[in-house]
Amino acid sequence: MMKKKRFLFSLLIAGFLASTLSCNFVLEEDEATAWNTAKPLKDIYNYNFLMGNVISPGDLGTVRFSILKRHYNSATAENDMKPDAIAPGSKPADGWPWPYRYTQTDNKIDKIVDAVNAAGMKMHGHTLIWHRQTPSWLTTGNRETVLANLEKYVTDVTTYFEGRVISWDVVNEAMRDGLSASDAGNWRSCLRTDSPWYRAIGSDYIEKAFLAARKADPKAILFYNDYNLNSNTGNGKPEAVFNMVKDINTRYPNVEGRPLIDGIGMQSHHHLNTTPQSVEVSIKSFIKLGVKIAISEMDIMASKSDDNNLTNEWNEDAAQRQAEKYAAMFRIFKNHAGYISRVTFWGLDDGKSWRASSHPTLLDKNYGLKPAFRAVAKPDNY
Ligand code: G3I
Repeated sequence: MMKKKRFLFSLLIAGFLASTLSCNFVLEEDEATAWNTAKPLKDIYNYNFLMGNVISPGDLGTVRFSILKRHYNSATAENDMKPDAIAPGSKPADGWPWPYRYTQTDNKIDKIVDAVNAAGMKMHGHTLIWHRQTPSWLTTGNRETVLANLEKYVTDVTTYFEGRVISWDVVNEAMRDGLSASDAGNWRSCLRTDSPWYRAIGSDYIEKAFLAARKADPKAILFYNDYNLNSNTGNGKPEAVFNMVKDINTRYPNVEGRPLIDGIGMQSHHHLNTTPQSVEVSIKSFIKLGVKIAISEMDIMASKSDDNNLTNEWNEDAAQRQAEKYAAMFRIFKNHAGYISRVTFWGLDDGKSWRASSHPTLLDKNYGLKPAFRAVAKPDNY
């Protein structure tokens, strides 16, 4: 009898100690009033996928970096890893600039990558080959010249960041807009012809970029990244991307031990009228390809100021509808978590978002928790 009492007493003490230690003054998200007391989003989704957000040089050493570090375990440079940031505006007379720029004192991207890694977060690389934010000298010349530039640029950059960047958007936004389902059968005819890479090289610029990246850093996870990849009726883009990845991975089934394209990045710049079902249809379809899926640039525009799809103003009702939309999306992500490697938001707060006046993020401009934050933290309750 005495033994049993002692045992129960020890259990009580152990339970008290465990709850005190594990609590660590972290409040449940629905009790929390601020970003620094709310349970970290990265812990909530620890067993599902990485949680990411964007970073810019000005964030280092500020409250913004503290927010990033608390809630996210992955970061993507919003602009500073794009070709126009990495390579100078014109080709210097003495040859290739790379990695010349990294010997300069104002080396913003190295500072970002080092700070992200030192904080225990994973760095995602955005983006190697894109039709925008790319200095024109890289894409000027005949096929042979431009292909050599593409291969050298991709090789040099991925080699430079090897071991410090875990994954890359190797090609970004190669498909044109306004594709119909009937276009999608021939993916090459769906490529945007306004890409200077396409114009100089032709449709094989895509596989050439992936081949160079895989060879330079075989451990890095290689993504094709694009927007409007949710399957709305009449939108042929998701199917065109499906067909491209299927074709390339069928032709290159084993490059350094695996198919050439590791994953598809669904940018996910949504708005209040986006239907979550259209997102799930695409996720299910991409899963059939056997590739990873990243939700790579997520935000949900909630007022008409920046988004032609909407007619409503920003108010409490819009904030609530936005929260419900985020919750519905996260319920889907959780259901397919085995195939989703990362969910990255495109903006820490509404103040500095690229679409600030549509209030698309989880925090307001004073870093206050929006209903959207609570919805992401507890999607099943919405
Ligand atoms: O750095 C200059 C600054 O010196 C100048 O004073 C200022 C004046 O406008 O412009 C600054 O550059 C801006 C840059 O963002 C940094 O803030 C550019 O004008 C502006 O065009 C650029 O916008 C970026 C956009 O990509 C450009 O393509 C956004 O921040 C960035 O969020 C956005 O990100 C893209 C992804 O890379 C790909 N998917 C779509 C997504 C949203 O458009």
